[in-house]
Amino acid sequence: MTPITIGIIGCGVISDAYLKGAARSATITVKSVADLRPEAAAAKAAEYGVAAAPSVAALLADPAISIVVNLTVPLAHAAVNRAIVAAGKHVYAEKPLCASFAEARDLLRLAAAAGVRVGGAPDTFMGAAHQACRRAIDAGRLGTIIAGAATVLSHGMEHWHPNPDFFFIKGGGPILDLGPYYVTTLVHLLGPVARVAATTCIGNPTRTITSQPRAGETITVAIETTATAILAFASGASIVLTASWDVWKNKRLPFELYGIDGSLLVPDPNFFGGTPEIAEKGADWSPLPITDHPFHAPNRTLRDGREVADYRIIGLLDMAAAIQQNRPHRASGELTTHVLEVLEAITTAGAEHRWVALTTTCDRPAPLPLGTGEEVFAS
Ligand SMILES: NC(=O)c1ccc[n+]([C@@H]2O[C@H](COP(=O)([O-])OP(=O)(O)OC[C@H]3O[C@@H](n4cnc5c(N)ncnc54)[C@H](O)[C@@H]3O)[C@@H](O)[C@H]2O)c1
Repeated sequence: MTPITIGIIGCGVISDAYLKGAARSATITVKSVADLRPEAAAAKAAEYGVAAAPSVAALLADPAISIVVNLTVPLAHAAVNRAIVAAGKHVYAEKPLCASFAEARDLLRLAAAAGVRVGGAPDTFMGAAHQACRRAIDAGRLGTIIAGAATVLSHGMEHWHPNPDFFFIKGGGPILDLGPYYVTTLVHLLGPVARVAATTCIGNPTRTITSQPRAGETITVAIETTATAILAFASGASIVLTASWDVWKNKRLPFELYGIDGSLLVPDPNFFGGTPEIAEKGADWSPLPITDHPFHAPNRTLRDGREVADYRIIGLLDMAAAIQQNRPHRASGELTTHVLEVLEAITTAGAEHRWVALTTTCDRPAPLPLGTGEEVFAS
């Protein structure tokens, strides 16, 4: 298969993951990158041996580019996504797809009219651990899933990101920034959400940056930083999602599912690997093997020293292969838009003290075949 030619808009922190992943891939090739800050584009272009487009408009006008990856900050996502679609290119965006559900719904309409695809992060549900969980659920090992909990708690982002402002305004917060990993994995495992209830709050009204180069600057927090939600799935399952950047320490597991025939400990969907554990009826916990599934091998060391599997970009590889094979892609616009509606419903439910019914639904993305890596997209 001839690789599909990609352009990237947004040359900040996460662009390294995409440029490194693209360099390892036989499915795509990056032609050029662009950024509002031409010096950022020039630096990434030099580091990864690709071209720096003279401007975002020039990248969008390049007829060789089929898919444009949007790695800008969340508040810029909608306008950049629209410009990509208007240029007749397929768009793959980092999460959240847009800063609001209404913008995402409009984007899907525009893309359908233009005959181009929309895809977006997160793609961690395609990792080995979560595919192994999907296989166990689809084999009926848990029976009907009735309840569970997904938990992401920390003390924020201002201690590591060089420009953490976007995390604390509209489009950010733990609900929109980290919620996509947990809700996308839940929808992948359980199907669509039907309604949402929640409480939310802003724990700390200001944040002091401790990362370089802006250590000592203060950010005013304009978005909820703690949420406790009940997600009622169309399947009948109810999951409690707790997301916070106001917690210093905790010992809760990231993700547990309870079925009438068994329980499943799901590894953190912020990454692609980890060992799921299953306990069937009265039996003790036992690990679910993940090495038959693609994208399982640890390939990144975190700041805290943990070795994790991080294959951020495989959703884009699947979309590129799907375009060539004329099949649906898994990290689809319908999935990311449904997830965004769920996340926005958490904020609405918290503000208005009521259940919020979802207006969208989506199919569960197809499971990946067994294999080791990118070759699974070839068939
Ligand atoms: N940093 C991470 O670890 C991480 C992980 C997963 C997902 N993401 C997501 O990736 C996206 C980018 O995050 P980041 O950490 O790389 O942010 P960043 O602030 O480091 O980089 C964003 C870049 O986009 C550019 N930009 C902003 N608006 C633009 C526009 N209209 N046109 C062109 N360029 C524009 C900025 O100049 C900047 O270089 C966000 O949606 C974030 O949620 C980040």
